[in-house]
This record gives sequence, C-alpha cells and structure tokens, in this order.
Amino acid sequence: MGEKHRRQIGQWRCVTVTLLLVCSVLVIAIMAVAIIKNRYLDERSARLCGDEDSVIDISEPEYPSVFHDLTSTEIRGLRRYLYSEAAKDLRLVKANLTSMGKSFIYTADIHLTDKIKVLFHTEMGGERPPREAKVIIFRGDARPPTVEEYIVGPLPAPSYHRLLKVENRPNPIPNAVKPYSLTELDATIGVKHLEKLDSDLAEILLESYDASFTNCKKKCLTLKFVPLSAEMDESQSRRLLFQAFYDIKHYSLYPVDLMVLFKSNETDASVYYIDRLFYGNQEFKSVDDLQDKYIEGSIKKSSISYPSLTASSKPSGDKPLTKEARRRHPRLVEPDGKRYKISHRKVDYMQWQFDFRLSPFTGPALFDIHLKKERHAYEVSLQEIAAFYYASNEGAKTSAFIHGSVLLGTHAKPLIPGADCPETATFINSTFMVEKSDDPFVAHRSMCIFEQYTGTPLRRHMAYATAEGGFYEGMADSSLVVRTILSIANNDYIIDYIFHQNGILETKVTSTGFLHGSYHHNNRFGHRLRDDLVGNLNHRLFNFKVDLDVFGTSNRYQTLDILSKKAGSKKNKFTQQVYRYDLKQTESESGYIYNYDRPKYHLFYNNKMKDKFFNPRAMRLYIQSMSNLRLPDDDKTSLPWAQHQITVTQYKPTEEFSSSPYAQFDGENPVVNFTQYSADNENLIDKDLVIWITVGMYHIPHTEDIPLTSTVDKQSTFYIIPFNYFPRDPSVDSQDGIRVQYNNSQNPADGVLIESHEELPGHRCITTPFNLTALTDNPDGLLQSKTKWSVL
Ligand SMILES: *[C@@H]1O[C@H](CO)[C@@H](O)[C@H](O)[C@H]1NC(C)=O
Ligand SMILES: *[C@@H]1O[C@H](CO)[C@@H](O)[C@H](O)[C@H]1NC(C)=O
Ligand SMILES: *[C@@H]1O[C@H](CO)[C@@H](O)[C@H](O)[C@H]1NC(C)=O
Ligand SMILES: *[C@@H]1O[C@H](CO)[C@@H](O)[C@H](O)[C@H]1NC(C)=O
Ligand SMILES: *[C@@H]1O[C@H](CO)[C@@H](O)[C@H](O)[C@H]1NC(C)=O
Ligand SMILES: *[C@@H]1O[C@H](CO)[C@@H](O)[C@H](O)[C@H]1NC(C)=O
Repeated sequence: MGEKHRRQIGQWRCVTVTLLLVCSVLVIAIMAVAIIKNRYLDERSARLCGDEDSVIDISEPEYPSVFHDLTSTEIRGLRRYLYSEAAKDLRLVKANLTSMGKSFIYTADIHLTDKIKVLFHTEMGGERPPREAKVIIFRGDARPPTVEEYIVGPLPAPSYHRLLKVENRPNPIPNAVKPYSLTELDATIGVKHLEKLDSDLAEILLESYDASFTNCKKKCLTLKFVPLSAEMDESQSRRLLFQAFYDIKHYSLYPVDLMVLFKSNETDASVYYIDRLFYGNQEFKSVDDLQDKYIEGSIKKSSISYPSLTASSKPSGDKPLTKEARRRHPRLVEPDGKRYKISHRKVDYMQWQFDFRLSPFTGPALFDIHLKKERHAYEVSLQEIAAFYYASNEGAKTSAFIHGSVLLGTHAKPLIPGADCPETATFINSTFMVEKSDDPFVAHRSMCIFEQYTGTPLRRHMAYATAEGGFYEGMADSSLVVRTILSIANNDYIIDYIFHQNGILETKVTSTGFLHGSYHHNNRFGHRLRDDLVGNLNHRLFNFKVDLDVFGTSNRYQTLDILSKKAGSKKNKFTQQVYRYDLKQTESESGYIYNYDRPKYHLFYNNKMKDKFFNPRAMRLYIQSMSNLRLPDDDKTSLPWAQHQITVTQYKPTEEFSSSPYAQFDGENPVVNFTQYSADNENLIDKDLVIWITVGMYHIPHTEDIPLTSTVDKQSTFYIIPFNYFPRDPSVDSQDGIRVQYNNSQNPADGVLIESHEELPGHRCITTPFNLTALTDNPDGLLQSKTKWSVL
C-alpha cells in the first residue's frame, strides 16, 4: 500500500468519526427536544390541584333556608323595623357611650321555628315557615332596668314583634344578669374612670407596678373582666370585677395584684361606682380606703417590675436549622377537585348531607343531618363553654368564666390557611348583628370546611398466610371537617364536627391559647412559671346538644351494661363478662355519671326499626373524654348541665338551650333552668329525645404552656356511631379502598391483582406554591382584631 492510499484511509476515518459524532449530537438533541416538549405538553394538560369542577357556592342566598343564620339583608330589614314607628314602644336609641340608661339593641339571632313545623316543611314539602329573629334589648329606661327578648318577623321585612315569654323563667330578665356589652365596658372601665383611677392612685400604681392606665407611654396597665368569685357572688345587683394586667401581648401572663369591683345602681342603670378594691391580696372598701392605708403604711406594699421580655413563639435561633428542618411541612392535595359540594349552608359529602350555621349565641351548629338519605340527627350544637379557675387570690378564689355570656359565635375570629385549616379548605364568612354598628358585621373566614386525610387507615387487614387467602384490604380515613375556632380572651377553642365515611359523626373540642395566670402569692393552686406568675389549676367544660332522630322522632334510650358473672362448675370456676339491657323509662333515670367500674354502651333507636335478626337499628353515643364537675349540689359554682355527662330529655320547643347569655351572672336564679328540663320526669319511651352531653378536661399548667398551650393533649371527643344500623360498614361503597390479592394463592409467582382508585389519565395536577400574601390586601380582614365590636 502506498503512502497516498494510507492517507486516504485516514481521511475517511476522520470523516466517519465526525459523522458519527454529529449523529450522536443530533440524536441527543432530538431526545432533549422530545423530553422538553413532552414536559411542556404535560404541564399544559395538568391542571391546578383542586381547581376544577368544584361545586361551592357560599354566597348569601336570596331565600335563606330555615336553618340559615340571619343574612345581611335580614339584619338591615330588622334594624329598619326596630327603629321605625311600628316598634316605637321599644324606645330604642342607637348604642353609644351614654346609652346605659336608655333602651338599646344588644344583639340578635335567628329564632328557629318549632321542629315540627320545620320537619313539615323539609320532609313533607310543606310551606317554609316564616323566618323570625330573636332580639335582645337592654331596657336601661325601665324602672328597675331590665333585659327583654323579642321575636321579630317575618324577615326580611318584619311587621310584628312580640315579647318572648317562656314558662318557668324570670320575665322580664333582671338587669343584674345581663351579658356584658361594649356600652357597659365604656361605662365602667372607659377612659373617664381610668383617668380617675390614675389620678387617685397615681403614687400606688407607679410605686407598685411602675405603670399606669392612661398617659402611660410605654408602660401601661389594662383592666380585664374576671368573673366574681363564688364566695362574693351573693347579691342580685349588677357587679363587674376587673383585674389589672400589664398591657402587652399575652397580657394574661403578666398580671399585677390589683382588682377593681364595679357596682351599678339598682334603679339607674347608667350609674356605676367602685364598690371594692383588692390590692396586694388585701381587700379595701374604696379608693380612699386603699389610699389612706397605703399612706399610713399599715398595709403590705407590692413591688412588681415592668416585664422585660414578652413571650414569643419565634425560634430562639440558638442553633442553625438542619437542611431537612428548613423544608416546608407536608400539604394536602385534592388531585381531582373537591369531593364535597356546598350550596349556601348545605353540604353534600359522600353519603352525608347536612346544614351548618354559626349562631352568635352558641357558636357552630349542624342541622338536618342525613346519612345515606336518612335523617338521623336534627341538631348537633355547642351550647356552652365554662372555664373554672382556682386561686388563692382575694377576689378570685374560684372563678368560672361562663363564655356564653360573651356570645360564643361572635368570637369566631379569622382562620389562617396553612395553620388553622389546610390551604385547600373552603372559608366561610359569617354575618352578625352587633351592638354598635348599623351595618351587619362580617366575620371573615369564621368557619372552614375541608376534607382531610389523616394518614391513618379507617380499617385494614393483612392476611398473614396464603392459607388465610393471602390478601390485603384497607382504606384511608379521609373525612370532612367543619371547623370553627373561638378566641375568647386568652382561650382558643377549636370546635370540629367530623364526618367519617363509615357513618361515624365525631365532635371534637380542642383547647389552646395562652394561660390565665395570677400573681404569685404563696399559691397552692398552681406551679410558679416565672418569678411573679402562677399558672392556676383550671377545668374546662363543654356542653353539646344532640337531637337524634333515629328513623323518625319516636326513639328509646337503652344502655348495655357490661358486668362480670361467675360461671362454671364448683371445681372449675371462671368469670365471664356479659351485658344486660337497661331501657331508660323516664328523664330522671337518664342522668349519667361515668363510672369506670360499670362500662356501658349508650344506644338510641326506634323500636319499630329492626334488622332481619330483630336487632334494633340504633345509633350509639360514645363519649371519649369523661370529665365531671364533682362539686356538692349546694355549691354555687356548679352548673346544672355539668352535673352529668349525659342527660336525656323529651324534645320541647321551650327547652331549646341548656344555658343562656345570662349564665355568667344568674347562678342563683337561672334564666334557663336546665334542672327543670328533667325535673318533671317525663317519659322517654318512644319519644322525641334530646341528649345533652358534657365533656371536658383538667389543666395543671406547666412551663411548656409558655408561650401557648398545646392542642395535642387537650382534646375532648364524642362520637355518634351506627350500631346495627347498616347491614355492614357503609364505607365499603367508597372508592378509597385498596385491595391486593394473589392471582393464585397457591402460587404467588402468578402475580398479584391490585384494586384501587388510581389516577385517571389526563388528570394530572400541579400544586401552586402557597403563601399568605394574597390575604394581606386587607390587614383588618386578616386579623380582624382592630374592630372593637367584641367585648373580650
Ligand atoms: C368574605 O369576606 C371577604 C372579606 O370581606 C370577601 O373578600 C369575600 O368575598 C367574602 N366571601 C364571600 C363568599 O362573601
Ligand atoms: C348618643 O346617643 C344619644 C341618644 O341616645 C344622642 O342624643 C347622643 O347625641 C349620642 N352621642 C354621641 C356622642 O353620638
Ligand atoms: C340610685 O339612683 C337613684 C336615682 O337616680 C338615686 O335616687 C339613688 O340614690 C341611687 N342609689 C345609690 C346607692 O347610688
Ligand atoms: C330550677 O328547677 C328546679 C327543679 O324544678 C327547682 O327546684 C328550682 O327551684 C328551679 N330554680 C329556679 C330559680 O326556678
Ligand atoms: C394477575 O391478574 C391480573 C388481572 O387478572 C392480570 O392483569 C395480571 O397480568 C396477572 N399477573 C400475572 C403475572 O399473570
Ligand atoms: C405569593 O402568592 C402570590 C399570589 O397569591 C404571588 O403573587 C406572590 O409572588 C407569592 N409570593 C411569594 C414570596 O411566593
């Protein structure tokens, strides 16, 4: 071979290698284009998660349903009527600083019509009963001053009002027991009185606390309502007790040892004066009395320094976070859109349908609850929340905050997506009629509704051997939650109604917020959490109303009492557990106090509705958190609804609530006398039954309650559970189940068959980055705390 030939071969090699290289680059380029194009196509076909086909209409309806809260149109119509000629007998003025001695509107709620009329409308297609409001009016112009409740209708353009008269209750309601109002707070701890306190007690306040109430620049004190101690609660006159705190964030962690008791003139509601003071754990007849003794030097002087630190929940920043700890927390995704529908206040979820509302008086409530098209509950609603505190303080030894008297529902403050409820939740506004505004007040995001995935199976089994069939069967517990969080002074109460796919309705109360402390004075009632702060022992109680209608309104209440029985022969003795039926005949038999030694199932059923084995198709009530207010019957702080965990009564339109907005002050002579509900001892056999349920929790505060109390260990729950009601677990109809089995259990190598609800083609969804910026357009709507319409 010649030199030329070799050179030619070399050239060809070069060309080939180059061509090969070019080809590879082209192939790679084509692949890259294909991948990018594909991804682009994918992103175009993918939708935003949860964004599609959802049927959510939460607007205010023109024709509200029987259960709907007062709409803004109705509130406007109501006010127009009440200030018109037609209602001039009420002599109403618009509430302002000077109204205590006049007649003014406190608040209003929908007045639900008698259940029989409602059912005639909802079940039999009868006409919708007229909508009516219940309006509370403070009659400071009456001698003596009183409180009156009026029924006003028909909404939205009322033409009549009548005084609400209820048997067995004080009528009219005495002024001494009225709930607190903004107008009254102005009349007591308004600037005028605070300036007077400052000028009378200037020296004492500065020397003792290094602060004052007014003109205080950075070092300020504030007065907050505290209930009267049971010991002091003896008179029928209007009295309000206030405790002083440093006016900073988490104020109730910074108490000082000063309390002021205001009293109102029994004939003139506009006159308030200081009746007593408590300073340094000593009692004084008047401001002058305190001043004289202080100057004399005959009393122990307090010395509390202005707090240097405010409790904060910011990370302390001691150590840099790890890479993992800096990542965002897991989120909920609704890949195919929402699985529930909302039409105004009616919700449709899987086999559930129900109405919900937020009553300004009693808070969140459910109505007309249907399970598989059958109504099994007419109403499930919160009734009252009470927080008992015990301390060695003069003035606040045993105080019970009965929160209904600040109107529970109006304390549903805005819920923050991503923390209070998942970002996927539907947020609902509520509308209230309030004391000092002509316009309806809109509480932003006061409720949320969402479907949650708990990460726990609702049921599951893994057969451990092929001889057992070699299968897996399970289902995620996805459930629908209706949530409200009531922020009442330092307390936050999360109220959840949870609808499970197996027909169980769960009601859960969770307590959080910050502590209500007292100033440290050798306190036996709590741990010292800081030099000057004691977190006092407290006890929270919650009362709920459950109006069950198991296959109609003719129901029975029966317990299955589990007990031990000796069995066997003389030689071979053993113990068996058996249960006995106990059918409750009358109301007085129904009062239930939990007894660990006597386990019971509580069943409610219609005796005519049996399954094919003659078992009554029942609903079972299961209370998971027993907490009892174990006080002697003659104790003043006891609340009648808290004496039993379960009380069952016959439905009566006049026995609508277990408590009232007057309960903070009416202990001796209750406006709503719950004891009376069962005192007539009516028959419970085949009657329309209402169950009153009390749950609660104790809390002995500890340092980790600072800055805020944890939710994890402060939950109280009860369940309404189908019990022989369905022939099998109704969740088997759910698409969420997963089943895995061998094709041939004799030969695993033949593979497995998986049955599950898989992603449908073309249903890819992408999540959007979530942040709260969208809510910052309206800062007042985000926090809604500047709006001074609420008392606490
Ligand atoms: C709820 O209130 C907010 C703030 O006023 C408002 O932007 C939103 O439109 C309201 N939502 C409904 C459904 O009315
Ligand atoms: C307060 O209301 C009264 C009517 O009760 C009215 O005469 C007075 O002008 C009002 N005061 C203020 C400051 O609005
Ligand atoms: C209460 O008010 C009435 C009428 O204004 C007055 O005559 C009476 O002296 C007052 N009573 C007290 C204890 O202030
Ligand atoms: C409340 O009802 C009970 C039972 O009927 C009765 O003994 C009591 O006197 C009533 N209380 C009032 C203030 O009417
Ligand atoms: C097991 O059965 C399923 C459904 O009949 C079938 O799709 C699958 O191919 C089978 N697996 C094997 C390994 O045969
Ligand atoms: C937050 O979300 C809004 C849209 O809601 C968006 O415009 C903004 O860029 C986001 N901010 C951040 C920091 O992601």
